[in-house]
Amino acid sequence: MLRVEGICKSFDRFNALCGADLHVDSGKIVAVIGPNGAGKSTMFKVITGHWKPDGGRVLFRGEPISSLSPHQICRKGISMAFQIVNIFNRMTVFENVQAAVLSHRRQAGKIFRSASKMAVGQTMEILESVGLRERAGCIAGTLSYGDQKVLEMAIALSTRPKLLILDEPTAGMSPEETAVCTGLIRRLTAENGLTVLFCEHNIELVLSLSDEIMVMQGGKTIIQDIPEAVRQSPAVREAYLGGAP
Ligand SMILES: Nc1ncnc2c1ncn2[C@@H]1O[C@H](COP(=O)(O)OP(=O)(O)O)[C@@H](O)[C@H]1O
Ligand SMILES: [Mg+2]
Repeated sequence: MLRVEGICKSFDRFNALCGADLHVDSGKIVAVIGPNGAGKSTMFKVITGHWKPDGGRVLFRGEPISSLSPHQICRKGISMAFQIVNIFNRMTVFENVQAAVLSHRRQAGKIFRSASKMAVGQTMEILESVGLRERAGCIAGTLSYGDQKVLEMAIALSTRPKLLILDEPTAGMSPEETAVCTGLIRRLTAENGLTVLFCEHNIELVLSLSDEIMVMQGGKTIIQDIPEAVRQSPAVREAYLGGAP
């Protein structure tokens, strides 16, 4: 579904990415791990078109996409939830998702008369799928931190993506919230056929949730393999997990 080949990205003279590779097969959950500053978020922003790479290419379903705008890439079926919660605090949960659904549809060239009654079915369907149906009428800013992150995931789902990218989905979550979020990612891939690419510092979560793990350091890919192989890899132990087993 997604293939990242040797992408490079510099900020001034600093090389944030220098030849990172990644592949994501359809229906899989793939994690990216690596120390702070490894280039994970930058790579996600290159994939979603927020940064243009200086070199290398990104293929989505066989088609090169790195010259497209974020909006065009979103329309192809890639959606991202950011590391920092990014919702409208004063709007309800329902309105947050509805606004996202409508804005995506409007970009498809449709015209609406009464926005408040539009897309109610699809909005409720999305809220149901992430477990926020009962909170639909709540003001978004009053939700718990975990629920706000889930709401952001719901907003990312409003474009009906094929590939969902999550930048540190459980950062700042309590263990209970983390468990809910993990269950949600599993369910979305199993039931909705979604493909998920995420980065995360919680290694236990990564090892239990992912079909494959890509390890990066210094803007480069060290390895991509199944969790057990990554766990055993001497290169990973040395570079990232910190020495002997
Ligand atoms: N907009 C930017 N301008 C300058 N440097 C940046 C910018 N974004 C990221 N960087 C640098 O690129 C490196 C990789 O950052 P990032 O992709 O955020 O790492 P990660 O997500 O793995 O922690 C870091 O050293 C960071 O300081
Ligand atoms: Mg980051």
